[in-house]
Amino acid sequence: MSAYISKILGVGSYLPARAMTNDELSSLVETSDAWIQERTGIKKRHIAADGECTSDLGVEAARRAMAHAGITIDEVDMIVLATATPDLTFPASATIIQHKLGMRHGMAFDVHAVCSGFVYAMATADNFLARGQAKTALVIGAETFSRILDWTDRTTCVLFGDGAGAIVLRAEEQTESNAGEGVISTHLRSDGSFCDLLYVDGGPSSTKTVGHLRMQGNQVFKHAVNKISGSIEEAAKIANVAIEEVDWFIPHQANYRILQGVAKKLGIPVEKVVSTVADHGNTSAASIPLALDVAVKDGRVKKGDLILMEALGGGLTWGAALARF
Ligand code: UT7
Repeated sequence: MSAYISKILGVGSYLPARAMTNDELSSLVETSDAWIQERTGIKKRHIAADGECTSDLGVEAARRAMAHAGITIDEVDMIVLATATPDLTFPASATIIQHKLGMRHGMAFDVHAVCSGFVYAMATADNFLARGQAKTALVIGAETFSRILDWTDRTTCVLFGDGAGAIVLRAEEQTESNAGEGVISTHLRSDGSFCDLLYVDGGPSSTKTVGHLRMQGNQVFKHAVNKISGSIEEAAKIANVAIEEVDWFIPHQANYRILQGVAKKLGIPVEKVVSTVADHGNTSAASIPLALDVAVKDGRVKKGDLILMEALGGGLTWGAALARF
């Protein structure tokens, strides 16, 4: 049986038009631009318009990723959507995206790992491609966290934003000449004993409501740096790659202090860290492909660069991925 690698053909992203500043938030809850910037690095976040759903954000990001890759939807045979804010309880928003993109073949499903969702979705697609069960995958992270925030809770509502990002993965038969290209290694972890640190207090089976996000932020913070660093070290070990070889560190964008903490712990120079948290806030599963798209389009990430992605989120779930762009 042939072995396949997953090459990244293209990347795209989409942010809703409306940007909300920290000053605007300070008219809703007792907070300040200074506190938010000092504790998180966030300056603004984008908020989806009324009627603009997660699938709409995902569709736009997917279209842009396909345009960047130079492919059409006819070539895609798999859509994996990472989201914790689906349009509906079911069907999976991935199938809604599939329909909106006019695709009636292949498969589409959601992956739910909250802020770690993109790394989980990419690992899932990579494994399907490696087994020859799909040829071209759209891996999308799309969220509308503004819909599940408690806008009276200053400890959470200042942190999150809406957005979407996507990549196109293409299976290519592994040869000597393409060794080490595409997705190199992924390392996923979870520990449900920490589920009460970050959760939504509603759901179809428990309260029959959607609920609001609840987080013990400082507890999550404590886990973030150690757990993320550990999974990066695992992913690097599996891939037999030294951290110094990494060209760009593209982390989940939850808090600038977490990004800095992980980079410092692993000895990654700050110039190699792609940070978009100031402009996007925490967009959960969308944050990594959003950051990747920014760094590709502004010319920092180039073809052949080694990129390191990581995330930690509700569950707790966490993980890391290494890929050659
Ligand atoms: O993406 C999923 C993973 N999520 C994360 O990784 C988030 C991880 N956590 C964090 O980023 C940080 O813990 C936060 C940004 C959420 C909070 O920063 P912190 O430095 O851990 O602050 P804290 O929670 O310990 O709160 C410090 C103080 C408290 O006041 P007292 O008790 O010291 O009087 C809070 O009530 O800051 C207060 N506070 C605020 N003050 C102004 C909390 N939120 C705000 C606010 N504005 N928005």
